[in-house]
Amino acid sequence: EEAKKIVLVEDKALPQAMKIKIGKATASRDVRVTVSGWVHRLRVQGKDMMFVVLRDGTGFLQCVLTGRLCHTYDALTLSTESTIQVFGTIKKVPAGKNAPDGHELIVDYWKVLGKAPSGDDAFTNKLNKDSNPDVLLDNRHLTIRGETASAVLKMRALVLQAFRAFYQSTGVTEVNPPLMVQTQVEGGSTLFSFKYYGEDAYLTQSSQLYLETVLPSIGDAYTISESFRAEKSHTRRHLSQYTHIEGELGFITFDDLLDHLEQMITFVLDYVFADELGKTLMAELNPDFQRPKTPFRRMKYVDAIAWLKEHKITKEDGTSYEFGDDIPEAPERRMTDTIGEPILLTRFPAEIKAFYMKRCGDDKRVTESVDVLMPGVGEIVGGSMRIADHDELIAAYHREGLDPAPYYWYTEQRKFGTCEHGGYGLGLERFLAWLLNRYTVRECCLYPRFMGRCTP
Ligand code: 4AD
Repeated sequence: EEAKKIVLVEDKALPQAMKIKIGKATASRDVRVTVSGWVHRLRVQGKDMMFVVLRDGTGFLQCVLTGRLCHTYDALTLSTESTIQVFGTIKKVPAGKNAPDGHELIVDYWKVLGKAPSGDDAFTNKLNKDSNPDVLLDNRHLTIRGETASAVLKMRALVLQAFRAFYQSTGVTEVNPPLMVQTQVEGGSTLFSFKYYGEDAYLTQSSQLYLETVLPSIGDAYTISESFRAEKSHTRRHLSQYTHIEGELGFITFDDLLDHLEQMITFVLDYVFADELGKTLMAELNPDFQRPKTPFRRMKYVDAIAWLKEHKITKEDGTSYEFGDDIPEAPERRMTDTIGEPILLTRFPAEIKAFYMKRCGDDKRVTESVDVLMPGVGEIVGGSMRIADHDELIAAYHREGLDPAPYYWYTEQRKFGTCEHGGYGLGLERFLAWLLNRYTVRECCLYPRFMGRCTP
């Protein structure tokens, strides 16, 4: 009741406060500033001192409230995740004291903008009561406020920037293909279908076919689009919606494609480590990350089969993997983790790969295809050279039991000036899981979608 009577007023004699974001705090020391943000941490020291670590998405700032500033009703009932606005001066912390960025804001006036619940309903109770992953996922809108989750999201933004910088530096142009489509790319079993004004349609599995059609228009092209897969299993690396970075290059050879993939990954790592925020976030999220040596190891599918045999890695029924078998997630991962470095796994049998893949000139059983495998995750990229010949493509549709009719626009690329070309798709969340050493791709996107979850 006493506290309710205490009203704070801003001292008009003080210099006008400059509005800043926390990220710019170091440049704004020793002048009067105002900052708005969320109460990240709160520590009360006696009745005349409070420390608030404020968060505004650009950083963390320790704020010191003293005397009357701590006596108000708002001060006594302040809870974490409340929004407040503070006014005061940023000073270096005294030697021997620690605070984010080595400084703190000495508050002369402050106000509450939006109070968060305290007690049983407090933010920390809501999330800590139960570490059940479902509870955390239901509360993803709150868990993203955490230091790790927000660092991953920042890194994701930086990595996207890095990919775009790579494409810009190599003259590859961005396009935005449709996501509502009427053709499959990667097999019918993972299609999400829906009614499009009464017609059957799907959410796209890959923008590849559209990228191929833009080569004669704008040349080498890429897209960063969402792809959708109705995956019917729960794994660490499958989402039903993911961010797909796809590139398509004209007049290239298979070796050019492999070189391009290696250059792209190297460029992106260089970009991240050249960036101040990138370095800080890597030190926070994955301090032991080892930059892979170049050139990356290249390994043929037949040699992977031989490797599995040699290391006695068998199928569930105890029989060995043979030429023609798909190498599932678990053995692929064991091989990659044992070898412990990136692998460009090439030349997969045609039967286990998509219809559009070009066969090798020296061995028609296999295709000019590549998966990039990374330790800890396994496959992060799938790519190939494409069938450039019209009749060969028609034969491939028939072999796969696909009706060529809806693909007319794709097929006609082979009629109106075909070219040797190839491309790939990289799963952004898998790339991040590797780079940031996350246990699952679910941590590497904003609101993960997988079987059984479409909320929030
Ligand atoms: O190997 P995929 O199926 O290849 C394609 O879609 C080609 N059409 C791409 C192209 O050539 N333009 O998928 C490519 C990558 C995979 O290596 C993986 O990183 C990611 O997409 N991916 C998934 N990521 C998360 N959840 C899923 N369910 C994924 N399915 C594929």
